[in-house]
Amino acid sequence: MNNPSFNGLSQPEANHIQLYSDPELFELELERIFYSTWVFIAHESEIPEPGDFKTTFIGRVPVLLTRDDDSNIHVLLNRCTHRGATVCPNEQGNTKQFVCAYHAWTYDLDGSLNAVGLPSGYNEGEVDYDSLSLQKVANTGVYRGFIFATMSESARPFDEHIGGVKKYIDYYCDLSPTGEITVGTTGIYKQKYEGNWKIQLEGSVEGYHVWHTHKNAIDVMAREVPLMKDYPRLPVKAYDLGFGHNIIENYTLTEEQVHQRWPADFIDSLVKAHGRQRAMDALKHRFNLVIFPNFALLEYHVRVIRPLAVDRTEVRTYHTSLVGAPEQMNQRRVREHEFFYGPAGFGGPDDYVIFDRIQQGYDAWGSQWVLFNRGYKSEQTDADGIRSGAHTQETQQRAPYYEYRQLMGISGTENKLEQLIPGAGRQGSQ
Ligand code: FES
Ligand SMILES: [Fe+2]
Repeated sequence: MNNPSFNGLSQPEANHIQLYSDPELFELELERIFYSTWVFIAHESEIPEPGDFKTTFIGRVPVLLTRDDDSNIHVLLNRCTHRGATVCPNEQGNTKQFVCAYHAWTYDLDGSLNAVGLPSGYNEGEVDYDSLSLQKVANTGVYRGFIFATMSESARPFDEHIGGVKKYIDYYCDLSPTGEITVGTTGIYKQKYEGNWKIQLEGSVEGYHVWHTHKNAIDVMAREVPLMKDYPRLPVKAYDLGFGHNIIENYTLTEEQVHQRWPADFIDSLVKAHGRQRAMDALKHRFNLVIFPNFALLEYHVRVIRPLAVDRTEVRTYHTSLVGAPEQMNQRRVREHEFFYGPAGFGGPDDYVIFDRIQQGYDAWGSQWVLFNRGYKSEQTDADGIRSGAHTQETQQRAPYYEYRQLMGISGTENKLEQLIPGAGRQGSQ
C-alpha cells in the first residue's frame, strides 16, 4: 500500500530529517515495520529451563516468552484476555503459571487459561476457557538459538528472510567448541538515548566514525590487535545483504594473526570440534551484523533496539559467552567488551552522546537532509545482487532503506542527491 504523504523522504543517498522526527511517521513505522516483518526477541539461552520466562517487546507490544515442561518455547502476547492487564510484570524468571494481578485469571506456560478468580460469579458459558488463552504471535523462527517473531501472517518465510545472514551467525557461534553461545548470562545493560531508533540501526555498522569518535580507543586497542593502527586503510568491506540486513567487516585476520591473537589450546579445540576450515572462518572474521529492523550482532554482544517514541530509544546490550570454551577465554571476552562498550567504556558511551546530538541537530534550520552518499558512485553489485563498498563508506547505512521504503510504501520518487541539494554531487571523494 502506497503512502503518498511520505513519498520522497527516503532517497538512495539521503533521508529527509522528517524520517527521524515525525511522530505520525513513527506510528506508521510501528505498523508497517515492527508489526509486519520479523523482529528479534530473545536467544534460547535466556530461557534454558522448563518454567523459564522472559518479557520483551515487539515495537510497543508487550510479549511473553516461555519454556514449557516439555521444553517447547511459546511466544505470547503479554496481555490478559480478561481486561487486558499485562499478566507478567517481571523481565525474567521461572514459574509454573502466570496469575494476573487484577482478577487472578491464571495461565499455563503455554498460555492456556486454567483458572479465574472467584469462578462462582460466572454463569455457565460466560468464560470460554478454550478461546481465552493468551494470544500467540503470528509466527516464530529460530536460527542457532536466535529467536525471531512476527505479528504478521504475511511476513515472508523465516528461512528466506534470514538466508543471507546465516553464514555470519555461523561464524559467530562456531567460535564456541560446542557451537553454542549464551546471551545475557554474563551481563546485560540498558541504555536510553534521546533520538530516533534508526540512528542506532545506522550506527551499529558505522565504520566512518570509528577513526574520529573512537580514535583514543583505537590507539589502545592497537596494543592487542596491531592492525587496528591502520583501520581506515584495512582492505575490509561492508555489504548490503538484502531485506535491510547488512554487515561491516571490522578486520579479517590471517592465519598467522589468528595465532598471535588467541591461545593455542582454544584454536586447537575449535579445529578439533569443527574442522580446520570452519574453525578458521570463525577465528578470522570480525564484524558487526545488522538484522533489520532491531538486532545487531557485535564481537562480544547482541544489541536489541527498542523504539519508544520518534525521538526516544532503548538499547539493550547482552554480553555473549562461548559454551565449552576455556574459562579465561570467556573472561577475556568480558574484559575486552567492557573496555569499549561498558557503561564506563572507552567507546560505546560516546556513541550515545553523538546520537543525542544528531537528534538535536534535526531541530536546526538549514539542510533538511541526512546524507549517506559516501561511496555511492563506486558501490559494487555482485551477480547475486549484493552491494558492497569499503568499510568506511556508507553502503551499510543505505542498505536498510531499500527494505524500509518497500515496507513503508514510500518508494515513490527517487532523486539524485544533486537534485535534492544543489552542488552535493561535487563533494570530494575521500
Ligand atoms: S485483567 Fe487480568 S484478570 Fe482481570
Ligand atoms: Fe561508535
